[in-house]
Amino acid sequence: MKRTEIKHALAQEAGTDLVNLKGWVRTKRGSKNVSFIALNDGSTINNIQVVAENNISEDVLKCIHTGASISVVGTLVQSQGSGQTTELLASSIEVLGEANPDDYPLQPKKHSLEFLRENAHLRFRTNTFGAIFRIRHAMTFAIHNFFNERGFSNVHTPIITGSDCEGAGEMFAVSTLNKVNTPINDDGEVDYTQDFFGKETNLTVSGQLEAEMAALALGKVYTFGPTFRAENSNTSRHLAEFWMIEPEVAFADLNEDMDLAQDMLQYLCSYALTNCKDDLDFLDKRLQEEEKHKKKEERQEMSLIEKLKFVTENDFERITYTEAFDILRNSKPNKKKKFNYLINEWGADFQSEHERYLVEKKFKKPVIITDYPKDIKAFYMRMNDDGKTVRAMDVLFPGIGEIIGGSQREERLDVLKSRMEDMQIPEHELWWYLDSRKFGTVPHSGFGLGFERLILFVTGMGNIRDVIPFPRTPNNADF
Ligand code: 4AD
Ligand code: MG
Repeated sequence: MKRTEIKHALAQEAGTDLVNLKGWVRTKRGSKNVSFIALNDGSTINNIQVVAENNISEDVLKCIHTGASISVVGTLVQSQGSGQTTELLASSIEVLGEANPDDYPLQPKKHSLEFLRENAHLRFRTNTFGAIFRIRHAMTFAIHNFFNERGFSNVHTPIITGSDCEGAGEMFAVSTLNKVNTPINDDGEVDYTQDFFGKETNLTVSGQLEAEMAALALGKVYTFGPTFRAENSNTSRHLAEFWMIEPEVAFADLNEDMDLAQDMLQYLCSYALTNCKDDLDFLDKRLQEEEKHKKKEERQEMSLIEKLKFVTENDFERITYTEAFDILRNSKPNKKKKFNYLINEWGADFQSEHERYLVEKKFKKPVIITDYPKDIKAFYMRMNDDGKTVRAMDVLFPGIGEIIGGSQREERLDVLKSRMEDMQIPEHELWWYLDSRKFGTVPHSGFGLGFERLILFVTGMGNIRDVIPFPRTPNNADF
């Protein structure tokens, strides 16, 4: 008999035809004569209630505990209780896999997120993580949709790379050299000519440089892949392995880049509102419960759904770094020395406390900051005429801080070369990148959206470790 998914069973009318449902038991309760089993198969956040009466043997029923997997054949009936949902009156039940209640870590009660992180292999089976990962899928799909509808080509950029895109040097080495007897060259350095690729290689921090090569022929491209950063930041916003979406558009300037970024984020939030309603409603309620335990002044003003609508309905504020700097320097928390990092000198990078002040207190909407000081940005960003700032943009979101980083690219060969020299990036390492400025160079722009930061925003979760199935962070690569 063909299996029916619970999502579809719940939407069906009661009937006399037999249906087969399979799933994992969330809870079982009942009396001697009748048991009620809440069954979930991941197709929806909603459980179906299975009613097992006397016709189901004691021997079968006693094997059914939270976490067990079962296959049930029965008929769909109208629920006796409140609401108008369908439930399954069981004709027969087969236990597929038991879950011993003395061993099974998930009990039918609320577990802390920390506990569930330690049980990341099982946390998919909770309502919260079921909702998060269905939404994560929906967002993946929506991203491909968004770009496909606009004529972008998806390009797969390499994961192992010989160049450092962001120039921050926070890379994971990829090597097959013997770690005990590492070959050393005449200069006393590791002899990478003997390594697998005959040169030093790392896991990529970004697919941008390669995406630019594709954009300068295909016109509009995007990458969507894993990226790796060996920065030792143990925060709720950083992962060592995260996914990034990087569009790159030939002939586009920074204004068009910002338009694309806003369009995309609005599209994604509105896609979630339309297509992930049940999961969002669940997460919204969960968040409101959490808010109740917070101090009044720390509570969020908007619900999750309101926050998503707010993004879809409002233009993002666009200001330059220098304007933001002035606002921050004259702000109350700066004057009262409430910021951990005080804003005094033009040129310093903003911290997340500053970004959140601008978004949450000052403008109360997403903010795009442009034209950052050149010294705090990467070598490939287009130099402005002032010689001090570059055509960069960061999109800042409430509760998140930076969600997107992007720029117009330096398309002038001489300016790019001199920037690389200033930043001590050897030309021979990026000879191919420089070629693109030698042959048919054009203005072009792009950005990188941190996928997990997007999922944080859309799900309302507070820690980035909870929106990727198996997080990689300092001292943590379990599973
Ligand atoms: O600002 P970033 O470093 O920009 C780039 O990598 C550019 N090459 C992008 C481009 O122009 N094509 O990173 C882009 C975004 C950030 O805004 C942030 O959302 C996310 O990637 N991100 C991280 N997310 C999780 N963990 C980390 N350690 C992250 N580092 C950056
Ligand atoms: Mg950035």
